[in-house]
Amino acid sequence: MNEAAPLVIVEDLVKQFPARRGLWGFGRPRGMVRAVDHVSFRIAPGQTLGLVGESGCGKSTLARTVLRLLEPDGGRVVVDGADVFALRPAELRALRRRMQIVFQDPYGSLNPRMTVRQTLVEPLVIHRLGRTGAARESRIAALLEEVGLDRQFAASYPHELSGGQRQRVGIARALSVEPTFLVLDEPVSALDVSVQAQVLNLLSDLQQRHHLTYLFIAHDLAVVKYSADHVAVMYLGKIVELAPAPVLYKSPRHPYTKSLLSAVPVPDPRVERQRIVLTGDVPSPMSPPSGCPFHPRCPHPKKDARCRTELPALRQVAPAQLAACHFAEDPM
Ligand SMILES: Nc1ncnc2c1ncn2[C@@H]1O[C@H](COP(=O)(O)OP(=O)(O)OP(=O)(O)O)[C@@H](O)[C@H]1O
Ligand code: SF4
Ligand SMILES: [Mg+2]
Repeated sequence: MNEAAPLVIVEDLVKQFPARRGLWGFGRPRGMVRAVDHVSFRIAPGQTLGLVGESGCGKSTLARTVLRLLEPDGGRVVVDGADVFALRPAELRALRRRMQIVFQDPYGSLNPRMTVRQTLVEPLVIHRLGRTGAARESRIAALLEEVGLDRQFAASYPHELSGGQRQRVGIARALSVEPTFLVLDEPVSALDVSVQAQVLNLLSDLQQRHHLTYLFIAHDLAVVKYSADHVAVMYLGKIVELAPAPVLYKSPRHPYTKSLLSAVPVPDPRVERQRIVLTGDVPSPMSPPSGCPFHPRCPHPKKDARCRTELPALRQVAPAQLAACHFAEDPM
């Protein structure tokens, strides 16, 4: 474990939405959807926490609430010593410089009517960085170089760029204000496989160069395998397993992690890995199952009545490894 004080502390975070009835979300609310359900983790400075789970499990909601782009319903977040939910608006604006987000869809997150130069100038103006035109121009040139784009791209519009180039612009925009903490919300999911590795390498170089701390969101364990120091696996708003990456990939304890891992290709064809195919869809977060939320799909042979009635706590099951399963100690 890294001994440095954590740069990011998330404690017991809760975020819920009113569940709406009817088509297009109109109609009276019928209860609440708990998209983030008592989530806790820490990230040491310069490290990466990979956050993995299926679509709809609450990853983006968690990320946005941590950055206070959404207001929380409970819990505490500390970033770089600042208690994020206790900050007044002016203090929050100052902290925004230190925490930035890169989105999955670089096309959707870039304004189609703004050139790359305008996109990169905007945060500099908001945060009053680079007072003169010349200072801003040299900052933009430096940012483009940092993300591996020729400076002539400054005059381009998003539609003139490839997916990988657009994501590089998204990364440059996040970096422009010199943050310490970056949330990467599925930054390579929308890119061609051939481009994914290049962008992952870029993110890793930038992390080293600027000692950045990452919360790296992905929907499968393959993407964060080589970049994450720790990995948290999320299911229906809860973390079900959290461990240092080498431990989680080598000896996962939660049946859900095991099933996700069984889908990750193994480079060595001599290594046989049992493929676990989950049956059934992810249950609706509007009516989560009783007991262990994973029980309707769980392939664990010891699964029993307790799994249907008693919620397993996220508990230590090995040094530095947490899992939320009554049978985490039993081999599957
Ligand atoms: N603004 C909102 N209003 C109501 N419900 C929402 C809202 N945003 C998200 N949700 C619900 O919260 C849950 C979590 O959604 P979220 O987008 O955080 O999941 P995700 O893990 O990021 O999924 P994906 O992998 O598809 O991006 C889902 O059930 C979603 O429908
Ligand atoms: S508590 Fe039971 S249902 Fe839940 S993951 Fe463990 S074995 Fe499966
Ligand atoms: Mg998402």
